[in-house]
Amino acid sequence: FLFWKFCLVVQSAVKQEKQVSSKSTPTDLVTETDHQVEELIISTLREKYPTHRFIGEESSAAGVKCELTDDPTWIIDPIDGTCNFVHSFPMVAVSIGFAVRKELELGVIYHCFDGTLYTARKGHGAFCNGVRLQVSKEKDVSKALILTEIGAKRDPATLDIFLGNMKKLLSAPTHGVRIIGSSTLALCHIASGAAEAYYQYGLHCWDIAAAAVIIREAGGHVMDTTGGPLDLMSRRVVAAGTREIADCVVKQLQPINYGRDDTD
Ligand code: IPD
Repeated sequence: FLFWKFCLVVQSAVKQEKQVSSKSTPTDLVTETDHQVEELIISTLREKYPTHRFIGEESSAAGVKCELTDDPTWIIDPIDGTCNFVHSFPMVAVSIGFAVRKELELGVIYHCFDGTLYTARKGHGAFCNGVRLQVSKEKDVSKALILTEIGAKRDPATLDIFLGNMKKLLSAPTHGVRIIGSSTLALCHIASGAAEAYYQYGLHCWDIAAAAVIIREAGGHVMDTTGGPLDLMSRRVVAAGTREIADCVVKQLQPINYGRDDTD
């Protein structure tokens, strides 16, 4: 019920004029609704769980230290796909993850335009509107559909690496590469088996936290772009339905350095 309350704010704001400003780069957008929804989520959860900690996209942008401790911690992206939201492009989500002792335990992602609700709890499966999710079992990368996102850096050197990575994956060959403008919803497509793999440099812990639980509970793999274990703060990820596809994607990637969430 609480989740619908947060999403209603996003849904009604989509139709209204937005106050848009930028954060780390001119393409890293934020609106008053991002702030409003994050404040609403944190105040609602804090009332229910006064001892818990919070990591939120807009609080971090405002200078609150982004630090994952052993304490129960909610990891919040109030509007994932803010640029889509600004344009009313229908790929916008609210994402809330929950970690205890640095282990991701819960994930909830709500697609604000079509009302799809993705949920997962560690050890209890992943669901989309109550229907169990299952990743793709495809092992052959030449039959894979790959998803990625661009990230906020647009300098020529970064774009050369970004486009080079995409070129390598397109010519691997694979069935194709897609960009939808929302890391969390793209990751949900891996959980539902609609695509075989996702990779990105430049996303944040609040883009990965909820989705990682959902993908793992749907039988998939979420890892570092080097093939090692996921580091939530590292600003990079590879997710896939099978280990075979993940390994093929990892082999093609040239890294882009975005720093870390917990040191910037
Ligand atoms: C961003 C979007 C975007 C991705 C970025 C994310 P935001 O989230 O998911 O598609 O490229 O890395 O940070 O800023 O819209 O919440």
